[in-house]
Amino acid sequence: MARINDNYLKLAAGYLFPEIGRRVKAFCEANPSAKVIRMGIGDVTEPLPGACIAALHKATDEMAVRSSFRGYGPEQGYDFLREAIAKHDFQSRGANVSANEIFVSDGSKCDVGNILDVFGADNTIAVQDPVYPVYVDTNVMVGRTGSADASGRYPGLVYLPCTADNGFTPALPPGKVDLIYLCSPNNPTGTVMSRETLTKWVEYARANEAIILFDAAYETYITDPAIPHSIYEIPGARECAIEFRSFSKTAGFTGLRCAFTVVPQSLMGRTSDGSQKDVHSLWNRRHCTKFNGVSYPIQRAAEAIYSAEGAQQVKSVIAFYLENARLLREGIAQAGVQVFGGVNAPYIWLKTPKGLKSWDFFDKLLSEAHLVGTPGSGFGSCGEGYFRLSAFNSRENTMEAVQRFQKLG
Ligand code: MLT
Repeated sequence: MARINDNYLKLAAGYLFPEIGRRVKAFCEANPSAKVIRMGIGDVTEPLPGACIAALHKATDEMAVRSSFRGYGPEQGYDFLREAIAKHDFQSRGANVSANEIFVSDGSKCDVGNILDVFGADNTIAVQDPVYPVYVDTNVMVGRTGSADASGRYPGLVYLPCTADNGFTPALPPGKVDLIYLCSPNNPTGTVMSRETLTKWVEYARANEAIILFDAAYETYITDPAIPHSIYEIPGARECAIEFRSFSKTAGFTGLRCAFTVVPQSLMGRTSDGSQKDVHSLWNRRHCTKFNGVSYPIQRAAEAIYSAEGAQQVKSVIAFYLENARLLREGIAQAGVQVFGGVNAPYIWLKTPKGLKSWDFFDKLLSEAHLVGTPGSGFGSCGEGYFRLSAFNSRENTMEAVQRFQKLG
């Protein structure tokens, strides 16, 4: 009989969001008349920007005509999209990123998992705690950890606590680590890293020959002009960082699928014989071997967010979600609950009232207010006693959710 990858058996529980889905489904079946408001998984609710829809239709029509039909595209993405990304997302902010350092893909979740292919098994990995579970689970899957302990932590990973006491900004690791996952604006805490903090991390990474895996999937939500949108705004980051970006939360592409990863050509890793090798060529090799590119119409839809019209439409949908975040933040604070995040991010991170455990608060909120959020402990042991709410919802649902929250005993 074929052997399975035993590392999968180490995974502490099901993936967080399916577990929430399971509990909500059971509740809805038992209470069919309950009007449940879902603020658990961060999935967008507003339709695609008009400019993206127009580009999608146009590109689809091109596919229907022999002279403009396209088959396989370049695995790394079409030049029209890579160039628009380099210009608008990086060069306009003074970040030195060129089009050929951008790899278009079907999602950041896939990319943050797949990036492990190009790194050796003996690297020491650091993650923030609480953390987007994909960073941890993908390392467990490839065998970089032992089995989870009682708190859900895996031996083999270095956890960097992020709590209210340190403003949810992790301290540098006590020793040397090789790969560091940083996420800003942060999922799940909704907080951001300042320029000074990011500079400290870049300096640490360069001094320790470490690589930062920087997840900036929520950068469009940054409202504070002092906060960097890209790690490449920090001098020296081209030598120590890979950045992940997504159109999902920026332009409502969770159902269309388009993202990109930046691997600078100046980023080096070490081979087992001690020499240096650029990571860009390894990632390019991996990408071309295991991926056939994002479809042409979807790349055209993504390109449309960089037009004047598309940029305006994106701006207004982001403002809409951020207003939801403000309503949640202020409404919940009025109920006497401590709230974090939600200013430069679509997530509200709250301290559970009366010291309730995260999953107990989840059950209370669901059964008494018919509201669904995400238990903080699902993101790591430092998330215990916290709870995440997503601002991705209609205005009507958001206002109703605040009222129900305030009525909760
Ligand atoms: C979340 O709710 O944390 C996100 O939707 C997850 C994701 O983007 O994969």
